[in-house]
Amino acid sequence: MQFLNTFNAELVIESPGRINLIGEHTDYNMGYVLPTAIEKKIIFEFQKNGSEKECNVYSKGFDVGFQLDLGNLSKSNIEWENYILGVLNEISKRTDKVEGFNCTIQSNLPAGSGLSSSAALECGLAFGLNELFQLGLSKMDMVQLSQTAEHTYAGTQCGIMDQFASVMSEAGQVILLDCRSLERKMIPIHLDPYKLILLNTKVSHNLATSEYNVRKQECEEGVATIKQYFPEIASLRDVSMDMLQHCEPYLSETVHRRCAFIIAENKRVLAVAEALESNDLSKVGTLLYEAHEGISSQYEVSCPESDFLVAIAKTDAKVLGARQTGGGFGGCTLNIVHEEAVTTFVEKATKEYKEKFDIDLEAFEVRPSTGTKVASLEVQ
Ligand code: GLA
Repeated sequence: MQFLNTFNAELVIESPGRINLIGEHTDYNMGYVLPTAIEKKIIFEFQKNGSEKECNVYSKGFDVGFQLDLGNLSKSNIEWENYILGVLNEISKRTDKVEGFNCTIQSNLPAGSGLSSSAALECGLAFGLNELFQLGLSKMDMVQLSQTAEHTYAGTQCGIMDQFASVMSEAGQVILLDCRSLERKMIPIHLDPYKLILLNTKVSHNLATSEYNVRKQECEEGVATIKQYFPEIASLRDVSMDMLQHCEPYLSETVHRRCAFIIAENKRVLAVAEALESNDLSKVGTLLYEAHEGISSQYEVSCPESDFLVAIAKTDAKVLGARQTGGGFGGCTLNIVHEEAVTTFVEKATKEYKEKFDIDLEAFEVRPSTGTKVASLEVQ
């Protein structure tokens, strides 16, 4: 793109991906989640270009870019462009202070791996434009407008977890987020001598968006039925196992299973938060395995590749727990591994995964990290 010849960044933003320790698909059911940002991130460089409405966005990694006009923010048929356009569209509803800018993007956050590269893209852009044009948006505004952009432009009816984690995280802590009140509690995480190891299945089954929205509808269907018998409930967050049992005859078998998972998963989040506070990592691990079982057989958002990697983890006594993290149908498994066993565990998983699926596994350690921030110009 032509602007690159004279590009001179005046602002650099780092926008991280996230892991979710536990609490999958609970966010849009107004429940609890326990995510944190990780070091892997998207780096944005921005410069105002002096025009009123012309913007250029260029991805260094993919060597592709596009030009857009702030006066015409209609949807694109290119997926990643929609994250940009969707955020600009949401910002335009709140302020007219954005003017022409140029922006480059580079990332070491693998896309489609359940680590929320889309939220990192949305939130990094919102954060950067807020700084560049002094829009006066709060962090919460940025979280919410990014979530809406995902609904309207990307077509995933996601909850608030990913955008919240990308923007609000703090180093060394996980966020216990109540997705109904949006109250959060930061929980320090002391893993030593264990490490958080991600195994990237490198598969992202393309069912992800459509099945995600189907799960959301199934939960809504469950709530509508249960509400007939317990009018006081507003979401699955308010439903107990007893209430669900009472309503079992009126629910389809599938909807019943989905609801049972969400109710149990909410409880697990609170139990993991408590176990972290009392430094009981082996309890955390057990709950992670339990959660994966639910993800796989009750909520049915796992896949053979993730199940295979979790099964390998289970055979290793030095792995306290493992589960698929994120929306599902592939992406990464999150493993709590004793530092002495990391190498042998990763070698074994890599070898067996290659034999079974003919895919080269990618493994890396993650640490709870800071959310979206302005980075110094010099270090880039
Ligand atoms: C995706 C969505 C989140 C959340 C997770 C599942 O990452 O964007 O809102 O629902 O899936 O926990």
